[in-house]
Amino acid sequence: MNLILLGAPGAGKGTQAEKIVEKYNIPAISTGNIIRAALKNGTEMGLKAKAYMDAGSLVPDEVVIGIIKDRLKEDDCKNGFILDGFPRTIPQAQALEDMGIIIDKVVDIEVPDEKITARLSGRRVCAKCANSYHLIYKQPKVEGVCDACGGELIQRKDDAPETVQARLVEYHEMTEPLKDFYEKLGKLVIVEGQEDVEETTKLVFEALEG
Ligand code: AP5
Repeated sequence: MNLILLGAPGAGKGTQAEKIVEKYNIPAISTGNIIRAALKNGTEMGLKAKAYMDAGSLVPDEVVIGIIKDRLKEDDCKNGFILDGFPRTIPQAQALEDMGIIIDKVVDIEVPDEKITARLSGRRVCAKCANSYHLIYKQPKVEGVCDACGGELIQRKDDAPETVQARLVEYHEMTEPLKDFYEKLGKLVIVEGQEDVEETTKLVFEALEG
């Protein structure tokens, strides 16, 4: 099963991607995580992307399309994959089509803008392994410490409220038109994001299996 998770920043794409990985045993590919790892390792691509990311802007299409082209060639994608955060523009979606990749379903998780800032201001991520938590909705067992690897939990730079606003503007302008793109291809399924993660997961699985 080849899937795309669409939705605003903080809609819960990463959270739901983890649940789908557990159930269907296919890899989740997050362009955001790949870019952050490149940044941490000081690679040329990471350094190029830094200014865009810090400002809450999208990284240029050619950079992310290159990342995805390479990643989808890896062995673990043979039985399917989940794209989390890609595509984010029409040219990126077109690039997937041009690669001959058949997408089975596009799940769009809808969360109103007013709820996004609260969600993102409470998010904490592991500085070591990038696992994601929330001060209220997904607390680690020990405050400030990653359950998975013991790393320190920090706030993402682009989760500052003013950067979240910039990300939302980019989302509405550049990414939301993808709903129409995939609707026309008959692949779009919309899920209303719930306050409860498990409730949302239930709706996502229903959308995948329906
Ligand atoms: P990226 O890392 O992809 O960030 P994003 O899409 O902005 O999405 P987030 O990771 O912030 O949110 P999410 O929807 O995964 O939510 P999560 O599950 O964590 O991209 C970052 C940057 O990289 C971009 O701004 C851009 O610069 C660049 N980039 C990446 N891909 C690109 C591309 N294709 N093209 C160009 N540039 C690109 O949930 C958020 C929080 O809410 C968590 O704390 C979670 O615990 C909590 N939560 C989740 N679900 C619920 C729920 N149901 N109820 C309550 N809380 C919940």
